[in-house]
Amino acid sequence: MKKYKRIVLKLSGEAMMGKENFGIDPDFIFYIANEIMEATQTGVEIVIVVGGGNIFRGVAGSKQVIDRTTADYMGMLATIFNGMALQDALERKGVPTRLHTSFEMKEIAEPFIRKRAIRHLEKGRVVISGGGTGLPFVTTDTAAVIRGLELGCESIFKATNVDGVYSEDPKKNSKAKKYKTISLEEAFKSDRIGIMDNSAIDLCRTNNISIVVFNIYKKGNLKKAILGKNAGTVIK
Ligand code: GTP
Repeated sequence: MKKYKRIVLKLSGEAMMGKENFGIDPDFIFYIANEIMEATQTGVEIVIVVGGGNIFRGVAGSKQVIDRTTADYMGMLATIFNGMALQDALERKGVPTRLHTSFEMKEIAEPFIRKRAIRHLEKGRVVISGGGTGLPFVTTDTAAVIRGLELGCESIFKATNVDGVYSEDPKKNSKAKKYKTISLEEAFKSDRIGIMDNSAIDLCRTNNISIVVFNIYKKGNLKKAILGKNAGTVIK
């Protein structure tokens, strides 16, 4: 039995790079599409929010040459590149999807309309949210939480390359302990967790939506986490 009815899957832009140094790794997109396809077989409804750091990173990209606001909009466009790639990969696997964008690009994707996105989810479509919040000065972590809250999701599944939240850096100390659960309060106060930026964690904390931190690179882990099996750390 699945534990979650509707979730946000937050994928980082870096994850789209797979083994490459830049851009989109088709092999990894194929792998991730397979993981999502298997997760949807549990009946869970999925909203995907993807970052864009594999193509362009707002803060680092600006370097006092490009205005920060412009750089952030460029980053938002990068998330749409990733969303388009994910959409095609999922549809090739027979998963129905709808891609929307936070600002209008009607020839490419639907504009975001909350009730319409909810309807898509109810019909069993994976909804891919491109363009972040549509606003500069925030990250796609924040976009993931906002979309999660407005679309009635129970949890933000943060895909990472670590197995969860540890007492210490497991790469430095092999005795570091992995937590099964920690509180949102603790995650907000602790600067060592570094799982999401603090404004996103604060939004989760003040609106009481949980975060599941799990390793996306382990095959079958997304489905395991959705089934509520011990696949990472639950922050609630
Ligand atoms: P239902 O009304 O629930 O059947 O939803 P639907 O999304 O299947 O219906 P619709 O006829 O609105 O959309 C059909 C296809 O057109 C889907 O792939 C949508 O994503 C796409 N689509 C709808 N609106 C837009 C838009 O404004 N721009 C783009 N590019 N595609 C759109």
